[in-house]
Amino acid sequence: MNFEFTEEQLMIQQSARDYAQRELIKDVIERDTHAIYPTEHVKAMAELGFLGMLVDPKYDGGGMDTVSYVLAMEEISKVDSSVSVIMSVNNSLVCYGIEKFGTEEQKEKFLKPLARGEKIGAFLLSEPEAGSDATSQRTTAEDMGDHYLVNGTKNWITNGNSAGTYLVIAQTHKEKGHKGINVLIVDRNSPGITIGPHEDKMGMRSSDTHSVMFNDVKVPKENRIGEDGFGFKFAMKTLEGGRIGIAAQALGIASGAFERAVKYSKERKAFGTEIANHQSVAFKLADMAVKIENARNLCLKAAWLKDQGQPYGYASAMAKYYAAEIAMEVTTEAVQIHGGYGYVKEYHVERLMREAKLTQIYEGTSEIQQIVISRQILSEF
Ligand code: CAA
Repeated sequence: MNFEFTEEQLMIQQSARDYAQRELIKDVIERDTHAIYPTEHVKAMAELGFLGMLVDPKYDGGGMDTVSYVLAMEEISKVDSSVSVIMSVNNSLVCYGIEKFGTEEQKEKFLKPLARGEKIGAFLLSEPEAGSDATSQRTTAEDMGDHYLVNGTKNWITNGNSAGTYLVIAQTHKEKGHKGINVLIVDRNSPGITIGPHEDKMGMRSSDTHSVMFNDVKVPKENRIGEDGFGFKFAMKTLEGGRIGIAAQALGIASGAFERAVKYSKERKAFGTEIANHQSVAFKLADMAVKIENARNLCLKAAWLKDQGQPYGYASAMAKYYAAEIAMEVTTEAVQIHGGYGYVKEYHVERLMREAKLTQIYEGTSEIQQIVISRQILSEF
């Protein structure tokens, strides 16, 4: 095992850290308070090559590896997960899905603008009654010969309003269950699409989360990815990688809160000394550090397996599950260490705590990751 990063990986980490600590931090509280979409930062992320960092340069991507992606995601998420979730969905769900399973024509037409960050992508799987139970898709894609006619409603869609390109998962052959589901690339400006209001979320408030309604939306047949009925497997395969991104996001939230807690505990005095000198605080810091190190190792292992072309679904579920759980624990402790200051916005840790909660919920709840992990264990032993 080699625990050393390459020079290129360290450069990518540094460039993400610089951008986050210099630029993202400036107005993050304002964006969070008023749920302001980070338009300028998304542009800057495109210029840094972070929106298509995993895509092959022949499709205008950065050609970086998944380990670099984890390093960059951690740095951005230390400061603002509303920005890192845009980066994650675009890279590991939408770009990956088209690059891995799409046709050359689809890559030319749809992947290149996404990889350049000229367009943002969204992944439309969740429905009012099909969140965790993703096989129960109610949205239909009726086969009309040369095109599909899409009808239904998708919920909780990250980038729902800002995206130019949607990947829509919908049922074509109801009688076939999950084997009758398709995935279609849909232009967000297609007639018949209505976007619901911005969801007023607890955390990651400035990323745009919306419902998207489809009413007789015509989608050309050539926009289907893979064979007829490939949509559910497409979603499952794609989410395996998506979970590495969200695991790295949770890791960043935890390490961002931890760094603030360490700094604060060395400055703040109580009972005649810096609070870091009290064992009640020092022991908390030790526990937080161990959890973060474990989460980082799980994230990097999943990323490394993916880069080696080895199966990574089990590892990514473990990374996502563990990193999200400890992000909640670590941010809660960071608020506790800050005392009253932790409960106000200025010190950032209450925001990081709110952000952590979402990592236990989206791209598969913690319970979904437990299902994926336990099924693998039970099939092996
Ligand atoms: N790779 C390939 N195929 C897979 C797979 C994988 N990782 N996981 C399952 N499959 C296949 C199975 O082999 C099976 O195929 P066969 O019938 O041919 O054998 C088929 O898919 C159905 O699998 P299951 O019977 O295991 O399906 P299930 O309904 O019991 O449960 C689940 C599967 C793991 C619970 C799944 O439904 C799941 O992951 N749900 C969560 C969905 C999710 O993560 N939603 C998040 C929305 S996206 C999002 O949040 C993005 C965002 O905006 C931030």
